[in-house]
Amino acid sequence: MTAVDVRLDHLAIAARYAAAPGQWPVAPRFNPVDRWYHRLTVAEDHEVWLLTWLPGQGTDLHDHGGSSGAFLVVAGTLTEETVAPGKLTGDTIGGGTLTGKTVTGGTLTADTIGGGTLTGKTVTGGTLTADTIGAGTLTADTLTAATLTGKTVTAGTPTRQTGDERPRAVARELSAGDGRRFGPRHIHRVTNRSTRPAISIHVYGPALTTMTRYRLTAAGLEIRTVEAAGAQW
Ligand SMILES: [Fe+2]
Repeated sequence: MTAVDVRLDHLAIAARYAAAPGQWPVAPRFNPVDRWYHRLTVAEDHEVWLLTWLPGQGTDLHDHGGSSGAFLVVAGTLTEETVAPGKLTGDTIGGGTLTGKTVTGGTLTADTIGGGTLTGKTVTGGTLTADTIGAGTLTADTLTAATLTGKTVTAGTPTRQTGDERPRAVARELSAGDGRRFGPRHIHRVTNRSTRPAISIHVYGPALTTMTRYRLTAAGLEIRTVEAAGAQW
């Protein structure tokens, strides 16, 4: 059977491994070139990795290809950055075409489409609700994690409004013993910003198969690459 057991507590699994370093099949090592990693176990519905981080070593912004998981700091301190949602409000297009709008991990609200065409919309991270399209067409929507509500388009070109919030990176520190769970759409960057080496345990369920790397621009998250699974996260 290949179904994923959603009741698995990935952080609890990480904590069990963190508490028993004597049972790890290898001792952690440090690589001056890049993070060192070793897979401790792979099961039907999850895998466990041991990672080490010298000061300054870290990942790019990445997701986990639809896997959920958790990571726990065993020694040292790691900084996790996530992207706070931006907010784009008050787009109004009277009688025209709205194309290529991209909202990444944010909220797009108060739009209305009257007799026009809304195409090429990409919303990464949420829910598309309450769209009002009068005699128009809404096509090619891709939704993964934001909220799009009450859209009205009647003519023109949407521009960012005063007061709109751009997506931004938010950092939080995790010290030894700290961990965090994440869901299948989590995007983050993890770095050792401290002056001491760090060790961490990472659990993914199901095992990683792909990952997407992102860059954060003024407009939001931009996809850089989509890669097959390795241990780069
Ligand atoms: Fe990650």
